[in-house]
Amino acid sequence: MKKLLIFTDLHLKDPGETIIGLDPMERFQQGLMHAVAHHPDAARIILTGDLTHYGRTTQFERLKVALGDCPIPVSLMLGNHDSRKGFHNVFPDEPRTAEGFVQQAIDMDGYCLILMDTLDEPAEDLHSGFLCEHRLAWLDQALSEASDRKVIVFTHHPPMLTGFDGMDSIALRNRLDLISRLRKHPQSVQVISGHIHRTISGQVDGIPVSMFKSPCHQMPMCLGPADVHSSVDEPGAYGLILLHPEGPIIHTEDYALTGDLNVDTHGSEHA
Ligand SMILES: [Fe+2]
Repeated sequence: MKKLLIFTDLHLKDPGETIIGLDPMERFQQGLMHAVAHHPDAARIILTGDLTHYGRTTQFERLKVALGDCPIPVSLMLGNHDSRKGFHNVFPDEPRTAEGFVQQAIDMDGYCLILMDTLDEPAEDLHSGFLCEHRLAWLDQALSEASDRKVIVFTHHPPMLTGFDGMDSIALRNRLDLISRLRKHPQSVQVISGHIHRTISGQVDGIPVSMFKSPCHQMPMCLGPADVHSSVDEPGAYGLILLHPEGPIIHTEDYALTGDLNVDTHGSEHA
């Protein structure tokens, strides 16, 4: 059973720059070190967008440095804080579509992992996502080639509302176009997203959706009309997915809580 590790919303800035006093580079490096130490058997790490805070080439270069020694293969995706040009400058060899969208399909252990590019750089609100006709046509083709494999789609912007009104207003604008396509594939088993900076799960029209926290700053747990720019210092986290033949098993790991992980495998008091 293959294992995936998911990091989302790294928001890397330039040296010396912080977010609510947190250093995004330091937090990501802590998380990556934790993940590699405790899950060296992971088949792949997927970074689901907002790799950088301002989309600067210098910030993508810092990501390249952070991933330099990573022994696990890494796949990269874009979010609303990134720039496609800055990304391509630093990662020219990453898979992309003929139109330059950062999308790829990965076959793994009876699954097809489909990584989508929801970044909409011309968005009037600057932060919502969109899947244009090029990207949806590419998805149609990827789904048709997935035949009877289980499909997990990865997007930065979730195709599900969350109850955070401000974030829902900068969601994936045509999210139901994605959901309607997934419903036509008999084994669309899961969507994995970022963007919200909280651990959330639910479903849209029968399609399960899960989101993970950032390694750095999180969304305060204030449902309703809260400011989308408010952030809180809670433990950084990453997601872990087991590709079980019955369907994906999804965990989250708050790595900043576990320290050196002094695990007693014989004296557990859990039921
Ligand atoms: Fe983000």
